Amino acid sequence: MLSKSIIINHKLPLLLAAKSTTTSFIRLASTSTATSSPIRKEDQPKQEVVADNGTHYVKLSKEKELPVERLFDISTKVYSPTDEALQDDTKFITHPLYPHPVWTLKECEKVGITHREPRTIGDKISYYGTQYCRGLFDIFTGYKEANGDSYKYKGTRYFMNDSKFITRCLFLESIAAVPPSTAGFLRTLHSIRLLRRDKAWIDTLADEAYNERMHLLTFIKVGKPSWFTRTMIYLGQGVFTNIFFFTYLLNPRYCHRFVGYLEEEAVKTYTHLIDDLSIPGRLPLLEKTKVPKIAQQYWHGLNENSSFKDLILKIRADEAKHREINHTFANLNTTDRNPFALEIKDFHEPQPNDGLEVTRPTGWERKDLYL
Ligand SMILES: [Fe+2]
Ligand SMILES: [Fe+2]
Repeated sequence: MLSKSIIINHKLPLLLAAKSTTTSFIRLASTSTATSSPIRKEDQPKQEVVADNGTHYVKLSKEKELPVERLFDISTKVYSPTDEALQDDTKFITHPLYPHPVWTLKECEKVGITHREPRTIGDKISYYGTQYCRGLFDIFTGYKEANGDSYKYKGTRYFMNDSKFITRCLFLESIAAVPPSTAGFLRTLHSIRLLRRDKAWIDTLADEAYNERMHLLTFIKVGKPSWFTRTMIYLGQGVFTNIFFFTYLLNPRYCHRFVGYLEEEAVKTYTHLIDDLSIPGRLPLLEKTKVPKIAQQYWHGLNENSSFKDLILKIRADEAKHREINHTFANLNTTDRNPFALEIKDFHEPQPNDGLEVTRPTGWERKDLYL
């Protein structure tokens, strides 16, 4: 009897310790997504709520909500304005090798969605190729066109929030510099192999590649992509670059038409983003986001007081210019001069230039150009 009592008493501290550990573990598990410090009983997580922008929150009390951090969270983390300030690296910033043309915000606001109807079989192959790529891209980014109705997909997986928009922009811009840099590289090889002038296509293509990379370098200052987005970008580049390289060798004209259609889609995405940014509270993080320093240095007219919407207006105008250039290149022979590179004096018919005043969004026809 005595020995049994001693055994029970001997086990008691162990049982108490085990109970205490279990309680601590349960408490830790229930609070690990919210805070590392112990919380009061009345603050115990009660329910998970989804905010208007699609972010999941744990409701701790009437006033207090904390975002849920999931183990397999693959969303892009949009920086708060404070984090973004820390991200700005000004130490080794260089002046743009290809200075951006001076465009006013008023000119940028006039840019809109346009479409060139496919006319030839090549156009159709390019157009449906673009639509196929876009379909894959839409699945990956959970996107559907809203056609001006910002709340059309509310409550569905297609409802765009701050994070999803930045994921889409990051992926779009990581691919966008591939066509101009590949085309410029191939035309450089062609020029030095055949000892011929290129007639200035390389200049415009290099400028476009630089411009697209500036878009990407700006977006990585706004949000941090997840491991999943980085993996998709890595794989996407490997596949797309190889396909584009070999297709450009076979038929450069189809490739420029394909890029023209791709740019039409980019203008649509940025118009959707601008529409949502125009509604107060629709994208609460992005509407407060400051324009990163690297972007202020590159685009004329952007400064520390500019809004994120001002930045997107500039980027959309860039995409509209690429749309015009690539649809025009697709109308030319590859041995023609690049009409965007040099303005001809004393020629009074309208001709392409780097501005937004005189533009043909569906491309300049060859018969209208002084070549
Ligand atoms: Fe871009
Ligand atoms: Fe573009």
